[in-house]
Amino acid sequence: MITLPELPFEEDALEPFLSKETIQYHYGKHHTTYVNKLNELIKGTEHDKMSLAAIISDAGGPVFNNAAQIFNHTFYWKSMTPKKQAPTGKLLVKINNDFGSMEKLKEKFIQAGVSLFGSGWVWLVREPHGQLMIEKTQNAHTPLSAHMIPLFVCDVWEHAYYIDYRNVRLAYLSEFWNHINWEFASKTYDNTDNDIFIGIEPCNDIHDPFCQLLDELQDGDRVTS
Ligand SMILES: [Fe+2]
Repeated sequence: MITLPELPFEEDALEPFLSKETIQYHYGKHHTTYVNKLNELIKGTEHDKMSLAAIISDAGGPVFNNAAQIFNHTFYWKSMTPKKQAPTGKLLVKINNDFGSMEKLKEKFIQAGVSLFGSGWVWLVREPHGQLMIEKTQNAHTPLSAHMIPLFVCDVWEHAYYIDYRNVRLAYLSEFWNHINWEFASKTYDNTDNDIFIGIEPCNDIHDPFCQLLDELQDGDRVTS
């Protein structure tokens, strides 16, 4: 049984970037439906006793699609914050090293989002060898499947921005950039900034798929050295 995680902010906290109406539909209808649908699909199956990360790793078809969409949306909410922030510490150094500058990262990230055909997600990830990359995933696909650690993600399905931006994805992506939760991204980067992911705090929230993911990366045989 998978439960719907709470939003990390009030429904109107991101206005005017994202309206209360958008969040109510996106979280209250779309994200909630993925949770309900997944629970229907896994009831009485082996997946019913697994963590969300384990289901994503194990399943295909509709079970994978709904499970991955739950993780992707939970991570999307964590990726945004009402007040403008900036990256700090090791993550800022790494961005400058891997992309050249924050401006270049912004340019590449927005370009990736604009050029993604159809529905999907645009991520900043740490790939298994430590490199930062911008990753585009189609539909429900998630970089977890490629053993990448996401640092933040933007949902570029039309349901994420149509109420506020109609079909102008570029305007949505540009405003998203001003609401990235760099504090969360920097902390995630620090916690995974070595080859065997030492130093990740034990996760006590069994409903938090990202904590479950980090636990699995720490314990599992998929860890890259
Ligand atoms: Fe979405």
